[in-house]
Amino acid sequence: MTGAMLSAYNARGLSTGGVSLRMQKKPLPESRMPELPPRILLGPGPSNAEPRVLRAMMSPVIGYLDPDFMLVLDEVSELLKVVFQTDESITMALSGTGSAGMEAGINSLLEPGDTAILCVCGFFGERMADMAARVGADLVVLRSDWGTPFPAEMLEAELKRRSGVKLVATVHAETSTGVLQPLGDISRLAREYDALFMVDAVTSLGGTAVTVDDLGIDYCYSATQKCIGCPPGLSPAALSLRSHETVRGRKHKPASWYLDLALIANYWGEHVYHHTAPVSMILGLREGLRMVLEEGLEARYARHARTAAALRAGLEALGLDLVVADAHRLDQITPVWIPDGVDDQQVREALLRRHNIEIGRGLGQFSGKVWRVGLMGASSRLENVMALLAALEEILPEAGFEVGAGAGVAAASKALTTSGPTA
Ligand SMILES: Cc1ncc(COP(=O)(O)O)c(C=O)c1O
Repeated sequence: MTGAMLSAYNARGLSTGGVSLRMQKKPLPESRMPELPPRILLGPGPSNAEPRVLRAMMSPVIGYLDPDFMLVLDEVSELLKVVFQTDESITMALSGTGSAGMEAGINSLLEPGDTAILCVCGFFGERMADMAARVGADLVVLRSDWGTPFPAEMLEAELKRRSGVKLVATVHAETSTGVLQPLGDISRLAREYDALFMVDAVTSLGGTAVTVDDLGIDYCYSATQKCIGCPPGLSPAALSLRSHETVRGRKHKPASWYLDLALIANYWGEHVYHHTAPVSMILGLREGLRMVLEEGLEARYARHARTAAALRAGLEALGLDLVVADAHRLDQITPVWIPDGVDDQQVREALLRRHNIEIGRGLGQFSGKVWRVGLMGASSRLENVMALLAALEEILPEAGFEVGAGAGVAAASKALTTSGPTA
């Protein structure tokens, strides 16, 4: 439409072939939030995105089957192999957040009537169970206490009672409870009983070792917005050859076409069109993965461990009680009990409005009882720990919980001198 046509249209509507497309000329509504504030994201995710990643996402858009983009796709797949520590799996990034990775696995690996055992001790294990029930699987949900790891003996007892279990699944880093699930025994049992082993590494990948080949994980998925330094929107995944055979040899096609792992693996492996790949997100992921590997996996895990140690020392020095016992703590997220009489929301809002700091609330049975402090990827920095502790020292007394001035920051600094150089 030319400029002259457009003004005529705005003035009196446009007539095409006798049909009058009359539209009211309305002033552009004023944006209520034209620019977002620069938050320090210390919740359960998203964490802050790396500026380099955001710049990479500003590259021109090209076609998802452009031969030059195929080189990017192959590079991302190679980088993911290193981060997932696998030579043997097909690695790819699904379009969608971590839940897409979860749903793709459940939909593609399970057929109606297949037996699946889910080892659940938190909110995200429950989400997996919800998804598996929708697929019509013969579902066994083993539940153990929140705040402690799932006991492998419970799985062993169940496996002894059954035959033909197709899938065993669990969550590596339960973001709702702050527990790191040991995977060795669960993996061994899955192998022993010839079941596929599926692992949620949404919160661990890039912050804690996820060793897909060593652990014999058949399907592992993650998300870009936690420890990889990217915005939310992709779910990196690793599919073992055994799982690949399973999804290609299904009796019936999975109910979800979009999240059919066989079709998605075809795009990443053979470059066969499936859906329009989110090109800019994939460019961002490539940059995020390059940054992970430039830092080095071990150094990155050590950084997450150091900042988490400083945070825990600081929170305890403020008189807050940590939810998880020392041996099972996750470095990515630290839940603390909200002290009696303190208003959950008042504290979180003061952090957000006065200090631009986001922390997380409790989920499920921890709702209203805990705060969850995340230190993941680009957010896992000492200056963020210190900013949060200083802000809590100001806010907690206002909320009726007295703390020693400077106690948190001092304890965090001290913890760092015992745990190595600053992050
Ligand atoms: C352990 C875990 N699994 C799955 C999910 C779901 O991921 P998303 O919110 O990216 O869909 C989350 C989200 O926080 C998570 O922490």
